[in-house]
Amino acid sequence: MDNKKRMLIHTSVAYMLVSMFTLVVNSRKRKQRESITYGPIDETDRMRREYLENKVWKNDTTCLNMLRMRKAPFFRFCQLFRDRNLLKDTIHTSIELQVAMFLHTVGHNVRNRVIGLNYGRSGEVVSRYFKRVLHAIGELRDELIRKPSLETPAKIEGNYRWDPYFKDCIGAIDGTHVRASVTKDLEASFRGRKTNTTQNVMAAVDFDLRFTYVLAGWEGTAHDALVLRDALERENGLRVPQGKYYLVDGGYGAKPGFLPPFRRVRYHLNEWGSNPVQDEKELFNLRHSSLRVGVERGFGSLKGRFKILDDATPFFRYPTQVDIVVACCIIHNWVINDGIDEFIIPEDEWTPNITHASTSSGQAQELAYMTNFRQELADQMWEDRQNYMQQQDM
Ligand SMILES: *[C@@H]1O[C@H](CO)[C@@H](O)[C@H](O)[C@H]1NC(C)=O
Ligand SMILES: *[C@@H]1O[C@H](CO)[C@@H](O)[C@H](O)[C@H]1NC(C)=O
Ligand SMILES: *[C@@H]1O[C@H](CO)[C@@H](O)[C@H](O)[C@H]1NC(C)=O
Repeated sequence: MDNKKRMLIHTSVAYMLVSMFTLVVNSRKRKQRESITYGPIDETDRMRREYLENKVWKNDTTCLNMLRMRKAPFFRFCQLFRDRNLLKDTIHTSIELQVAMFLHTVGHNVRNRVIGLNYGRSGEVVSRYFKRVLHAIGELRDELIRKPSLETPAKIEGNYRWDPYFKDCIGAIDGTHVRASVTKDLEASFRGRKTNTTQNVMAAVDFDLRFTYVLAGWEGTAHDALVLRDALERENGLRVPQGKYYLVDGGYGAKPGFLPPFRRVRYHLNEWGSNPVQDEKELFNLRHSSLRVGVERGFGSLKGRFKILDDATPFFRYPTQVDIVVACCIIHNWVINDGIDEFIIPEDEWTPNITHASTSSGQAQELAYMTNFRQELADQMWEDRQNYMQQQDM
């Protein structure tokens, strides 16, 4: 055995002893705490631990404030990374601390330096763990962003407004713009006529408000129809099962798998006021809108939870900004799977923002196959409604 090896063993033994000692000390306190700490205890450790225990994961309120999810899903998330070997506990930085720093950053759009001050680490260390956690979350993409179920959604089933007309609908597709920072030469294509540069993000959401597909990274000036086409042409891209479709707005066009409302017909709930529907097209648009609005809350929750998507200019490189959007969707689904999402606004309190000229945008193509299908649905709805109203009169 050479000296190097011997030293390695000595160091390992020493480390093990220290770890064991720490574990024993910790286990005494574990009843009040759920942190996992390895390695020697020093002053910084003590301060960090106190911060974590009193300010971060003390209770569900602090945890929601700081990390944007309750304690149970947070600790389970960390355990998942540990079980899968996606992250590793290090001497000074447990997986819980790594993930907490990440969630704090994306939840509040805070710079590494500030995170470093709070958590007692250098900005450089914070940045290193940020990249590791971002990568680890990305590894969960296929598992957490899954294709929608093919069954008729519970929300639609049995509801006279949507059943049976929308029984083959598997969710809605929408676009949202996320603030972007890019190099000078790219700014024009990311800005368009708007003041700020943005990234165009397209996502499919099911009726449980889970993301079922995400395509991030397009520049802000890209038309929605172009982004959709890219999604369809990609290997492992968006696939719509035979006979199923998504609700979309006019900007995506009408083609097999994608059902927009009628153009130049009232659409948004707040355009209706107290004027009743006049014909089958209006009735169709009203019901299309009322079904789709629920899904927009998925985007609302995403931006509400992750300030990094909604706030001032991001300070990461653009490819990282794109990965962050996808990671946020993955975390969103993790929280939804857990059952409760405090960032989702109840449907009756939700007022949709009119972000797209849904009913008047003229460029996107409308194919006869889908416009005929839409007309049939509208006629059927109208006929059922007339019959129902006649029965009420008798
Ligand atoms: C959680 O902890 C904070 C900070 O100590 C405290 O103000 C708050 O009342 C606690 N909330 C609950 C529900 O215990
Ligand atoms: C909708 O617009 C209002 C006011 O313009 C804003 O306060 C709110 O945050 C917006 N909601 C979403 C989900 O963008
Ligand atoms: C553009 O960015 C500035 C500063 O970051 C912000 O105050 C403003 O509201 C943004 N404009 C739009 C249209 O979002």
